[in-house]
Amino acid sequence: MTLRDTPLRVPRFIQLHREDAVDTRAELAAGLSAPAASIAPKWFYDALGSRLFDAITELPEYYPTRTEAAIMAAQQAQIAGSVGRFRTLIDLGAGNCVKAGRLFATLQPHRYVAVDISVEFLRQAIACLQREHPTVDMLGVGLDFSQTLVLPPEVGDGPRTLFYPGSSIGNLAPDAALAFLRRARQGSPGCHLVIGVDLVKDFATLHAAYNDSLGVTAAFNLNVLPHVNRVLGSDFDLRQWRHVAFFDESASRIEMHLEAREPLVVRWPDGERAFAAGERIHTENSYKYVQESFDALLRAAGWAHTRCCTDERAWFAVFCAA
Ligand code: AVJ
Repeated sequence: MTLRDTPLRVPRFIQLHREDAVDTRAELAAGLSAPAASIAPKWFYDALGSRLFDAITELPEYYPTRTEAAIMAAQQAQIAGSVGRFRTLIDLGAGNCVKAGRLFATLQPHRYVAVDISVEFLRQAIACLQREHPTVDMLGVGLDFSQTLVLPPEVGDGPRTLFYPGSSIGNLAPDAALAFLRRARQGSPGCHLVIGVDLVKDFATLHAAYNDSLGVTAAFNLNVLPHVNRVLGSDFDLRQWRHVAFFDESASRIEMHLEAREPLVVRWPDGERAFAAGERIHTENSYKYVQESFDALLRAAGWAHTRCCTDERAWFAVFCAA
């Protein structure tokens, strides 16, 4: 078959996420107005933010993505053995869809459902993957799955495998992660799970991964401000803020913040917030687990047959469960 004869299949796309909704803006305003100001990490992912995240994954200091990819490459057969083949593969936070695409040959999914909040980025990524795999039935879903895991009926009722790589689960505190894992299981009865989890390691390695020398992570963190300006109508000035990231050992998490370089006031249509010099906006937590504690979390959430694959340095873990 020549390229010209290849049927051009455009994946279906269902948009369930509107970032200009009233409650969305109220949520942002509430976070900014709280005594300890915060912006949820989902706001990193506009079209530029998704690209900056892709750039992060190429950084020498950012080990999670390449470590996870190496585990998945080495353990493909194991993973297929525990979750089974010919299922509907549901990719939570699909981003560029590359991680899932690498598993297609082994998992041979009947249908691929890519879910992401960064809608335009996802639309392009899934169309690109569809060209590489013209026979797989693909569906894109624009959804804020931190709010709901109820998937549209178009996903179908075939057996499901939930794919949640990259240690995105680390954005949630352990109690919220537990609730999320429980909801994920209840939302798709009988489903299997493949999930990537970043592990505790020496603090210098952890610190460097979120303080890269090129400043890409700083750009990724700062990029949340113009995104919030567009959605909320606020007037954040990037030049007044700097990136801060550190490992908090007692909470076992990386924290990212934006710190005011000078005293300033941010205004938006129905509110404003003054920041003192050095005052921070908390933008992300990235929890790091030890293997046993994450296994216990999965079981507490009702997942069984848990299996863990790791790299030889034990820097990252891929868990399978049913
Ligand atoms: C996508 C949430 C897994 O926590 O490492 C990368 C996001 N933040 N650099 C992470 C991120 C700063 C990433 N997760």
